[in-house]
Amino acid sequence: MDIGIIGSGHIGGTLTRRLSALGHRVTVANSRGPDSLAALAAETGATAGTVQQAARARDLVVVTIPQRAVPSLPRDLFAATPASTAVIDTGNYYPELRDSPIAELDAGLNDSEWVARHLGRPVLKAFNNVQARTLARGGLPPGAPGRVALSVAGDDVEAKNRVLQLFDALGFDGVDAGTLADSWRQQVGTPAYCHDLDAAALRAALAAAERDKVAEYRREGEAMVMRLIAEAGGNLDALAAP
Ligand SMILES: NC(=O)c1ccc[n+]([C@@H]2O[C@H](COP(=O)([O-])OP(=O)(O)OC[C@H]3O[C@@H](n4cnc5c(N)ncnc54)[C@H](OP(=O)(O)O)[C@@H]3O)[C@@H](O)[C@H]2O)c1
Repeated sequence: MDIGIIGSGHIGGTLTRRLSALGHRVTVANSRGPDSLAALAAETGATAGTVQQAARARDLVVVTIPQRAVPSLPRDLFAATPASTAVIDTGNYYPELRDSPIAELDAGLNDSEWVARHLGRPVLKAFNNVQARTLARGGLPPGAPGRVALSVAGDDVEAKNRVLQLFDALGFDGVDAGTLADSWRQQVGTPAYCHDLDAAALRAALAAAERDKVAEYRREGEAMVMRLIAEAGGNLDALAAP
């Protein structure tokens, strides 16, 4: 596949490595420009590009930047992107830890619906509820006991199937988590958030989530991450790195 990745941090860097190793043609971009990505490009064979170049990928674009940075992406970034290209949002909203409060999200709008509005483009929510280190470790072959499952929520069934196939190629089972309106079920702190569950357990976790607890899940999830960062000596990178 021809894949663009916007963001080259823990998740973007990991996906660049893993998807390049699978033989996909990857263009990766960040906020500082292609020169800053020379080492990652040399390591992986990916192309270091601008965000505009990454957004023009034919099959898949992954937007993997902090939630607060989404409005700073260029306007009309996806104007030249084929309509058939699937766009994945990996984002999570951490108002205290990182993003500052965003009124629409605090009022209950789903994180990825807010991203889709800013991008002017439908998105799929995926890779947000798995740690970069789990993605980096490479998963397991199909049928292996304890194979971790990943979920994807979105409205485009064909695009979602493409993402489910990609999960499998990366070494993970895939779970269809419904439409983008259902994507709150895998937001920060929900039962489906970052527990490395197998497919049956992930389906059960998605089903067990309660809509009126989204703000509470987020508060508790964020508090847990802040505790873990404190335990890691205040080093977010040490916690998030693969
Ligand atoms: N870390 C995890 O395990 C994990 C797991 C699941 C989901 N997530 C979510 O996925 C998203 C990315 O997380 P991360 O941990 O990979 O973040 P990260 O390590 O902090 O990396 C963020 C990346 O976004 C880029 N960026 C920021 N603003 C940009 C802009 N305006 N244009 C282009 N690129 C921009 C940064 O570019 P520069 O390098 O040039 O600064 C950086 O490469 C977040 O929403 C996070 O909550 C993270």
